[in-house]
Amino acid sequence: MTPDEKRLRYEETAKEIAAVLEGETNRVARMTTVANVLHHAFDHYFWTGFYLVDPDKPDELVIGPYQGSLGCLRIPFGEGVCGVAAATRETQIVEDVHAFQGHIACDARSESEIVVPVFDPGDQLIAVFDVDSDRKAMFNETDRDGLERILRYQFASA
Ligand code: SME
Repeated sequence: MTPDEKRLRYEETAKEIAAVLEGETNRVARMTTVANVLHHAFDHYFWTGFYLVDPDKPDELVIGPYQGSLGCLRIPFGEGVCGVAAATRETQIVEDVHAFQGHIACDARSESEIVVPVFDPGDQLIAVFDVDSDRKAMFNETDRDGLERILRYQFASA
């Protein structure tokens, strides 16, 4: 997939998600749909889903809606790629998960990963969105831009 093809696919996918979710306010329905449509839109997506900030343990992430093999249930803030994204509130792109100190291997087939923090309209962190690939270096700035736009529109717009 060329960079232009990837960018176009993100634009089309954003429109598809917006059309499906028009008028739907339930957060579980929204997260499930985002994970589902994105997972099926890209060949390089192997595991796709949300880890939610746990209201009962605000320094811990707990598994949310996802597509793919069985995910780990809980990730403390600061641990693994997801926990670093949550603690720093910054998108993390990891070309080789085996070179990332503290990477949490829920599925041994994962080779590269992107994790994007998800905010509500009040700029509170509500989740992170994690995508793993079974090939190395599959995520770049085009993925970051495409995912950050979709997640901002779907969860941070009032
Ligand atoms: N690899 C992630 C854990 C989540 S799974 O891959 C689904 C991490 O290091 O945070």
